[in-house]
Amino acid sequence: MKILGIESSCDETSAAVVDDGRLVQSNIVASQIPVHERFGGVVPEIASRQHVLAIDSVTHSALDNAGCTLDDIDAVAVTYGPGLSGPLMVGTTFAKGLSLSRDLPMLSVNHIEGHVLSVWLSHSKHIFREPRLPMISLVVSGGHTELHLVKRPGEYRRLGQTRDDAVGEAFDKVGRLLGLPYPGGPSIELAAAEADTSPRVSLPRPWLPGTLDFSFSGLKTAVMREVKQRLQDGRLELESDEAKSLASEFQDAVTDILCRKLCDAVTETQASSAAIVGGVASNLFIRSHLAEALDVPLYVPGAGLSADNAAMIAGAAFWSPRRASMDLEIQPSVRM
Ligand code: KG4
Ligand code: ZN
Repeated sequence: MKILGIESSCDETSAAVVDDGRLVQSNIVASQIPVHERFGGVVPEIASRQHVLAIDSVTHSALDNAGCTLDDIDAVAVTYGPGLSGPLMVGTTFAKGLSLSRDLPMLSVNHIEGHVLSVWLSHSKHIFREPRLPMISLVVSGGHTELHLVKRPGEYRRLGQTRDDAVGEAFDKVGRLLGLPYPGGPSIELAAAEADTSPRVSLPRPWLPGTLDFSFSGLKTAVMREVKQRLQDGRLELESDEAKSLASEFQDAVTDILCRKLCDAVTETQASSAAIVGGVASNLFIRSHLAEALDVPLYVPGAGLSADNAAMIAGAAFWSPRRASMDLEIQPSVRM
């Protein structure tokens, strides 16, 4: 079954063709990072307009790259939430148009479920991905930080979530505090890799004992305090070495928290495997520490499949299909 996926929940316009929920035939992502960079975050109205401008050509490229046309497509899958209202409207309206004009079934996909099922995807027909179940999935993105027990595709139990900031959001805010380029996540990873290891501050690790919930806003405030202390002498920004050292300490603290919570979730549920998905899963430092800390296999999404993309939407529609009608409404705050 060949599914055309459409994703537009935040600041990436994406279309992809996926065979049988596994093989990624194409995955085109038009990022709006350069457009939102000067505002230091995603501006919803601008994001909507950018989606309108990009969605048609992105879809054409996805079909071209997969070497097929709409005649070869069996269904259209689209993200209906969670996400930003305007951007979600653009994607769902576009998918309805395609479905109606070509008489194709339309499948609605929850964006978080897309991230969770992204570890089933492969770029090669010779690499078979069949995660061991039950699996614990750690979803870490700009808008979400959640732990789920995945019994099988479509059957989940939420074990924990953030009580304040999402991890990606904390990375982005701390990146701004440290004067690093937007978005903060990749910039902090890069800066931390260049930090020298000697005298370090120690940032707090909010454990929230007895729960699998997370909290990152205190950690962000602690970084803010460290920055203010250094700028007391009237300087407007940190020295490069100071920023690198704080970036590294922040990344260490986040990694410790994610490791502890993921390991606890695996132990409590006796899960057979674990996964880290979502934009923050691109972070190689976090990935490698999680893999070391766990005594079950850790699955990570393939290249280009951690951050928002339409391949994960097409894949999820195959594994956990939900038929939608022309009445499909966006649900900006829907949970998985
Ligand atoms: O999943 P995603 O593309 O969009 C949402 O659904 O939110 O995640 C975007 C988030 C941003 O906060 C970005 O800073 C973060 O993922 N991110 C990273 C890295 N690459 C992207 N965070 C830490 N390390 C990275 N290498
Ligand atoms: Zn996402």
